[in-house]
Amino acid sequence: MSVIYNEKEKIFKLDTSGASYVMGIEGALGHLVHIYYGKKIKGESSPAPLPGINFANKLWFMDGNPMEYPAGGCGDFRQHCIEIETKEGYTALEPVYVSHSIYKGKPKLKGLPATFADEDECSTLEIVLRDEPTGIEIILLYSVFDGLDVITRSVKVKNTGSDAVYLKKVSSACLDIGNQNFEMITLSGAWGRERNIVRRQLTRGRHGVFSERGVSGHQENPFIAIVTPETTQNTGEVYAMNFVYSGNHEAVCELTNSNQVRMVMGINPYKFSWKLEQNDEFTAPEVVMVHSQEGLGSMTRTFHDLYRKHLIRGKYRNIKRPILINNWEATYFDFDTDKLLDIARQASKAGIEMLVVDDGWFGNRFDDNRALGDWFVNEDKIKGGLQYLVSEVNKLGMKFGMWFEPEMVCPDSELFRAHPDWAINIPGRAAALQRNQMVLDITRKEVRDYIFESMAKVLRSANVEYIKWDMNRALTDVASAALPHDRQGEIYHRYVMGVYELQDRITTEFPYILLENCSSGGGRYDPGMLYYSPQIWCSDNAEAIDRLTIQEGTALIYPLSTMGAHVTDCPNHCVGRVTPFETRGVIALAGTFGYELDVTKISEEERNMIPDQTAMYHKYNDIVREGDYYRLASYSENTVYDSYMVVSKDKSEALVTYVSVRTIAGYPDPVIKLSGLSEDKTYHVDVLDRNIPGDVLMNYGLPVQHEHGDYKARLYHLTEVQ
Ligand code: DGJ
Repeated sequence: MSVIYNEKEKIFKLDTSGASYVMGIEGALGHLVHIYYGKKIKGESSPAPLPGINFANKLWFMDGNPMEYPAGGCGDFRQHCIEIETKEGYTALEPVYVSHSIYKGKPKLKGLPATFADEDECSTLEIVLRDEPTGIEIILLYSVFDGLDVITRSVKVKNTGSDAVYLKKVSSACLDIGNQNFEMITLSGAWGRERNIVRRQLTRGRHGVFSERGVSGHQENPFIAIVTPETTQNTGEVYAMNFVYSGNHEAVCELTNSNQVRMVMGINPYKFSWKLEQNDEFTAPEVVMVHSQEGLGSMTRTFHDLYRKHLIRGKYRNIKRPILINNWEATYFDFDTDKLLDIARQASKAGIEMLVVDDGWFGNRFDDNRALGDWFVNEDKIKGGLQYLVSEVNKLGMKFGMWFEPEMVCPDSELFRAHPDWAINIPGRAAALQRNQMVLDITRKEVRDYIFESMAKVLRSANVEYIKWDMNRALTDVASAALPHDRQGEIYHRYVMGVYELQDRITTEFPYILLENCSSGGGRYDPGMLYYSPQIWCSDNAEAIDRLTIQEGTALIYPLSTMGAHVTDCPNHCVGRVTPFETRGVIALAGTFGYELDVTKISEEERNMIPDQTAMYHKYNDIVREGDYYRLASYSENTVYDSYMVVSKDKSEALVTYVSVRTIAGYPDPVIKLSGLSEDKTYHVDVLDRNIPGDVLMNYGLPVQHEHGDYKARLYHLTEVQ
């Protein structure tokens, strides 16, 4: 990894482990132009001359050249990155180069989640651009990491002019690149169907993904990639962007009239306006850019390594998580101490390590019509009090965790009756309810303090070692009683910053607590959340076969160690499908692993399978959590079977998962070509009880044993033969 400035050529060259990124300062006016991003090139020179500006035809220059951080209004008519409004209502900007600095390490982004690295692991380039008429300064930040094909980017905007201006749009990254018949990949979905991989031709015009819901959302993950047409898991060139942000986002790929592609990612400008007084600075969240020369699989493993090493923090980042049992699908709101302890007793006998009490333990919460915001224990349900319940659970050798939905308030709650103005709402307009709840205005410090103190009081009162932090509705009717009219456009971003501040306070005061984020399932599954919680509930749809597709899409960029995955009851509560208990266990093992069923009510036969499953978790979780992930076959593509594997970093061990979704008459047993093994090693395959060389497993393949009947799953454990 390196960052250099070539004074003679006036170019910057960033080298990652596999790629080079080159930009330059055009001579006459100092526009920052983009020159190259792709496979690593040697030396310190530009691969192409800088374009010269032709004053008689400046617009051709502005609209025709690859630019590094294009602003709107001065002749670049493609998707732009930044827009302001001055007191006169002027909006044009033409930022040009002023100065730069290169240093080791990586600065924190104030109040925002971001990747981090030590000085010897990372180098950073800052380039200052300036628009003279307005005094707007734009600081572009680029960091490269040792051993990773990654560039992280962010932007700061400073008002050095004499009057306040309104920042109307600020993107965090732009990439201009010549079209290579690119296809575009997004992670698109819905509640219960999160993060399906969608691939389509990039055609003329602007295409992309966005959220205007206040959260990153179930619908479009803040991720976008362009790939060359031949791209598979192992071949082809990939340019991917992922946004370290949990609110409104926008990613656009524009195929222009001159067959250039422009990718832009950042905060969604929808209803965004940020007032910058003189000398104020705004920091835009980080974009992670990953490049791969060897297909999607390599991109995946780069994201996984980056996030495991440089984003996820806290006690649990590198260790096995306790196997939990969550009571939501077991009891919904109908539980009390006795029922919970019955579940805990059975669970502990089977090797389950933590009881999580989901929604309904607080206030007057007997259903989802009321009580969000009233974070005090309901002792009609939690008879004997929280401390008693937790100590009884601890006596069984289990940990205890609990659910909160801190950002919400129900109109029927003590909190709302005391502070109706704390809910986000437009005065004089009936607020839209979703699940009978409103969103708290956590742009306000007193609201954040209330939330923190009421949660902390509960957490201090008993030995709580896990929190599920839920968020079950989008932001609507957006207005804050605490902000003046010309700052109402700041609410969405201030809201997200408020969530980050709260999660920071909770994880700082209770560092021993394992935090799991959740948003009606996987509605806020993004790198911003991963900075605070090492795992996120993947989807409310925990049905094993549907999970194949959800987990495949999630694992495209997010590590398996982050994917909340549980064994649930059958017929499945979400889709009614019936699958074997073993299959549900095998598929949940690809994530954090746990149970979400009434262990006292399932059949004896199923209950007796749990100890084997928990033993498998202990046997395999290190490799699942830390290994390299390879996607081998996709049920969502072939409609018959699914297969993926993880390989330990030293290639001495691997775990292959094979799921036969459908039995087809006359269909031969698949032979699955494995990946990531050592060609020089021989592996013992436990199910076959055979020793097979790595090159045979990767070129001929692993002959998997198909079992008659649908929804059958099997794990193949490979260990190096010494
Ligand atoms: C939505 C979550 O995704 C579920 O797992 C559960 O916690 C419910 N909320 C509780 O209201």
